[in-house]
Amino acid sequence: MPNNNPGFSTLAVHAGAAPDPTTGARATPIYQTTSFVFESADHAAALFGLQQFGNIYTRIMNPTQAVLEERVAALEGGAAALAVASGHAAQLLAFHAIMQPGDNFVAARKLYGGSINQFGHAFKNFDWQVRWADPADAKSFEAEIDARTRAIFIESLANPGGTFVDIAAIAEVAHRHGLPLIVDNTMASPYLVRPLEHGADIVVHSLTKFLGGHGNSMGGILVDGGTFDWSASGNYPMLSEPRPEYAGMVLHQTFGNIAFAIAARVLGLRDLGPAISPFNAFMILTGIETLPLRMQRHCENALAVATWLKDHPKVGWVGYAGLTDNDNYALQQRYSPKGAGAVFTFGLKGGYEAGKTLVESLQLFSHLANIGDTRSLVIHPASTTHRQLTEDQQVAAGAGPDVVRLSVGIEDASDIIADLEQALSKV
Ligand SMILES: Cc1ncc(COP(=O)(O)O)c(C=O)c1O
Repeated sequence: MPNNNPGFSTLAVHAGAAPDPTTGARATPIYQTTSFVFESADHAAALFGLQQFGNIYTRIMNPTQAVLEERVAALEGGAAALAVASGHAAQLLAFHAIMQPGDNFVAARKLYGGSINQFGHAFKNFDWQVRWADPADAKSFEAEIDARTRAIFIESLANPGGTFVDIAAIAEVAHRHGLPLIVDNTMASPYLVRPLEHGADIVVHSLTKFLGGHGNSMGGILVDGGTFDWSASGNYPMLSEPRPEYAGMVLHQTFGNIAFAIAARVLGLRDLGPAISPFNAFMILTGIETLPLRMQRHCENALAVATWLKDHPKVGWVGYAGLTDNDNYALQQRYSPKGAGAVFTFGLKGGYEAGKTLVESLQLFSHLANIGDTRSLVIHPASTTHRQLTEDQQVAAGAGPDVVRLSVGIEDASDIIADLEQALSKV
C-alpha cells in the first residue's frame, strides 16, 4: 500500500490480501482443501517441527483463514490472530493456552448468556473456575483475585444491555496483579472500540456477528496484542516451559510477541479441533470489507430507534448508551465516540407478557437468537438466550422478564420505527 499507515476503511478492504499469485484472482480464493503437498521430506519435517511456517492441514491453518487472521489483527492493532469455528471456540482456545487444572479467572457478570454458561458449567470439566465481578466496578475484580487467578475477562460493550465498560481501569487492575486482560469485542467491533489501545492484552470475537455482518456464517477469532510477558510469573507453563510435543521448544522464547497466538493454534486448535471452514472464512472476509459502512448505519439507526422508543407510552425505560441522559453516556463518549452500537435493551411496562406479544407482532424485525445482522433482529432474552439462568442471574445480566433486546439493522430507520409502532399498538 502507498501509505504506510492506512486508515481503518482501507485495512477493512485490503489487509492481508493480495491477488492470487498463481491465477491473478483478485478476491481471496476459497482454498477448499484439507491438506497441502510438501516440497520435500525436509520441508515437511520443518513444518511439523515449527521451524518453518506453512500450510500442513486445514485443521491447523489454511490460506483463506490466514487472510482473515491478518485482516482482523490489523483492524484490532494486534500482533497476530487465530480464526476458529465460532466465538465460543475462540474463548475456549484463549483460556486453554493459559489455564491449568485448578486455576481460575475473573469475569464480568454482564456477558452474553452463552459465555456465562460456558464459563460456569462447561469449563468446570477442565477444572477451570470462574469468579464473577461487576463490570462497572474495577475494584470488584481485584477482590476476586488470588494466587491461582490467571486472567480477567470482560466484554467491551456488554451483551445484551449495550453497556460500555471502563477497559483501562480493569486493565490497570489486571496488570498490577501480573494478569492478562481478555476482552470480547464482538458487540462493538474494532470500528467502534479497539481494546488493545486501552490496555487489553487479548481480544476475542464472535465473527458470526458484526464482522461477518450478514447472518450467514459462524466464526470466531482471537487476537494476540503481543505485549504481555508470559514468562515473568511462571504461571503460564504452556507458553514459558518446554513443550514435549515440539522437542522441548519453549513457545514464548521461540515466538516472542506472537507466542500466545501460536500456542492457541499449535496446542489448542491442533488438539481440540474447532477449525473454521475456508468457505466461512471467505464469507466473513467479504463481510468485513463493508464493516465501517455498516457500523455507521447501524449506529445512526439505533440512535433514531432509541430516541423514538424513549417517548413511547408503553415503554418503561430505554437502555441505549448513546442517549445523552443514559448513565453510561460518558463512557460511551470516551471509548466509542463514533457511536453506541446497534444492540440495546428496553423495558415494556407490561412485563413478560408484553415482551412476548411484541416479538410475535413485529414483521420487519426477525425474532431470533443473533445480533449484528444487516437485518433488524429482536429477542426476549428471559425466555430464550438467558433462560438457563436463574431470575437473579437474569436481572444481574440485564435480561430481566420485561426486557426486550433489539439489534437494529441497516434498513431505513423510518421502516424500522413503523414496524415497532404497529407492534407496540398490539401490546
Ligand atoms: C458477545 C458475544 N460473545 C460471544 C458469542 C459466542 O459466539 P458464537 O455464537 O460465534 O460462538 C456471542 C454469541 O452470541 C456473543 O454475542
